[in-house]
Amino acid sequence: MSLVGAYLTVHTPRYCTYDAAFAGKLAHPDFRAVRDGMIEQGRHVAAMRPDVLVLNSCHLIATFPTVVDGTPRHRGVLTAQEAPELIHGVAYDFPGDYELAAAIIDRGRAAGLPCVLANDVHYPLDYGTVMPLVCYLDRTQTVPVVPVSVCLAAGLQESFAWGRHIAEAVAALGRRAAFVASGSVSHKLVRGPEKWPSAADQELDHRLARLLADGRYDEAWTWLPEYAAATEPEMSGRHLAMLLGAMIASGRPYAATVHAYGPSSGSGNYVVSLSAA
Ligand SMILES: [Fe+2]
Repeated sequence: MSLVGAYLTVHTPRYCTYDAAFAGKLAHPDFRAVRDGMIEQGRHVAAMRPDVLVLNSCHLIATFPTVVDGTPRHRGVLTAQEAPELIHGVAYDFPGDYELAAAIIDRGRAAGLPCVLANDVHYPLDYGTVMPLVCYLDRTQTVPVVPVSVCLAAGLQESFAWGRHIAEAVAALGRRAAFVASGSVSHKLVRGPEKWPSAADQELDHRLARLLADGRYDEAWTWLPEYAAATEPEMSGRHLAMLLGAMIASGRPYAATVHAYGPSSGSGNYVVSLSAA
């Protein structure tokens, strides 16, 4: 098998509220669509039943190497550094996949890319990893997860290459894996949680989503630097490059479900699920 699915998901702290606290935390109605889309995305993951999720979060940040976390069991309690009032005391306890993480690192190392394999129950996970998983994508916390960092010293090309190494490692090991990119699209942050991106940036976000939905992955990758220069996506679009690298390297077409698009503090946030056709 190989990459059976891919997800573009959202980690905005305000959305970490599946049930009772929903009304209080999401006071503005414009947040509703993304929250509902995340619930639908969780159902998509449950229906796909991948045997591992490889998750690249824009908040798991390394400066020089790319870190792949192969810890066999990810266990901890998360309070988000920048939003302790919204994400606090969230317990997580889900399996990892050391063999896959090590295989990804082997491929990156062979290609000469700076990288580190983590295997440490104390390796701290960020809210961009934990929040979408625990609140929406796998509330049972039974699907193994391999967290992959973004790397500040790596640009779009290197991030794209990591996507390829991930897809190739997945195929070599015969995993039914899904890749998850956790981050915003346009990301010009301002104070005011309910603020939307500019109309021009929203239009560019929609164009990117259409390229994904239409299966025009090569075109999206070619356009990504121009898109990123205009909209300043989260982590300069490294998560989007890794997503496209994984999908293109898999060589498969994917059927897209575009669940939602919504705002958070001036950023644009798409919830998109893609399953191998
Ligand atoms: Fe973020």
